[in-house]
Amino acid sequence: MKTTLFTSTASSIDTPCLILAIFTDQAFSTSTAAVNEASSGLIEQLRESGDIQTAAGKTTLLHRVDGISARRVLLVGMGKPGELDAAKFSAACQSAGKQLRDLAFDTASSCLHEVKVKAQDSNWCLRQSIIAIGNANYFYTATKEPKPNGPKPLRQLGVVCAQDNQSNTAIQQAEAILSGYTRARALGDLPPNLCNPVYLAEQADEIAGRYPNCSSEALDTEQMQELGMHALLGVARGSRNPPRLIILRYSGADKDEKPVVLVGKGITFDTGGISIKPGENMDQMKYDMCGAAGVIGTFEACAHMQLPINLIVIVAAAENMPDGDAYRPGDVITSMSGQTIEVLNTDAEGRMVLCDALTYAKRFEPAALIDVATLTGACVVALGHHASGLMSKSDDLVAELVTAGNEIVDRAWRLPLWDEYQVQLDTPFADMKNIGGMPGGSITAGCFLSRFAKGQNWAHIDIAGSAWKWGTQEGATGRPVGLLSQFLINHSSK
Ligand code: BES
Ligand code: MN
Ligand code: ZN
Repeated sequence: MKTTLFTSTASSIDTPCLILAIFTDQAFSTSTAAVNEASSGLIEQLRESGDIQTAAGKTTLLHRVDGISARRVLLVGMGKPGELDAAKFSAACQSAGKQLRDLAFDTASSCLHEVKVKAQDSNWCLRQSIIAIGNANYFYTATKEPKPNGPKPLRQLGVVCAQDNQSNTAIQQAEAILSGYTRARALGDLPPNLCNPVYLAEQADEIAGRYPNCSSEALDTEQMQELGMHALLGVARGSRNPPRLIILRYSGADKDEKPVVLVGKGITFDTGGISIKPGENMDQMKYDMCGAAGVIGTFEACAHMQLPINLIVIVAAAENMPDGDAYRPGDVITSMSGQTIEVLNTDAEGRMVLCDALTYAKRFEPAALIDVATLTGACVVALGHHASGLMSKSDDLVAELVTAGNEIVDRAWRLPLWDEYQVQLDTPFADMKNIGGMPGGSITAGCFLSRFAKGQNWAHIDIAGSAWKWGTQEGATGRPVGLLSQFLINHSSK
């Protein structure tokens, strides 16, 4: 979706569909007022007669409104004026975006950012509305043709506002972040027979080639063997699809400025391995590479914005399959760090691939090291689909990530990583086992990873609940591209 800026008044904009905000009562925002006046009070009359839905996110489509140039008006309810917060506003914009898609509009023009949202300014509203409408117009097409008369993604969004540096920045950031979300969702939704580790590496190459200051490389099995990445390789052994360690580099700052390093879990399909998962819903494990998709998408957003920072993205890409050569429960494996791991469940494979990627990441001397993974079902039990699970020993890094998530409404919630949990990983046969039992399953997974990030300014984000909605047909969400992009934007202005 492309965004263009209109500086004329709403009533004179020639568009197939003008999108206006409407509250339950009180004053109209600027453009809604302009259209109301041009149409001799039509909007006011319809609201009074109860013919407009004003609850947050409800929409009403008007045809042939007199006195304006737009051919249709989509009124979007914003609820009670004093109660509109960032999350409600985003949801309302998203539902407007879905309407536009379902009504198959090719272009439309929005004035939704004119409303007052609690604790936010107008440029925030502008950026957020574009991201939300854009995200609602994501369309999966990789293996299915769109129906000729069905829903269509909006191609062009006009936004009605004054042109200045801040609005231009808001639009540019929105487009960049949207490109990141779209990339992450497209990768997440792609079936596992197409999206394998080599494919992810090819995509990384493609992205690096598309933007300035980027490069990409991928380590193969042999190169990883030389590095001693036996935890990652152990997982990969059961699959005919060879693993890759993908490294994407973006240099937007001085060479000696320490990079932010993002690490993504890229299990392109998780059968559980020898500790095989039940058949029901196993197909959903194609989303087990959404951590990888999220960090690759964030890389794209950053490269798109050309942020003045250095960024490195590492993807641990492998497929977890049962096989005659697969790793088994009881195996003891030496990780790249030298620490030994007793594998008690081959389905706890995410931490196995991530631990070697985290060890590898140390060579870049990260300013911050953040891993993203669909790591534990327990995280969905704890937090549901609305919050990502955030774990770190660093209060400062937690604060930065939580703030970034709140800012862009891609929220994370902290879980503790106290040392008391660490004993759950004890075993007589190795430095640690790869599972910590039922109590605090997300936390003990975090504890496992913490042992490979010692001395680092590190955080772990579990997106098992936020990367897609279980059992629905909605597909990948692209999270946490928003959170991480905002984190990088904030980091770049420090
Ligand atoms: N990829 C899964 C976690 C997952 C499960 C994410 C369902 C989203 C939905 C991960 O590899 C896994 O299987 N974790 C196990 C860990 C257990 C064996 C300690 C889990 O959560 O059951
Ligand atoms: Mn698993
Ligand atoms: Zn997994």
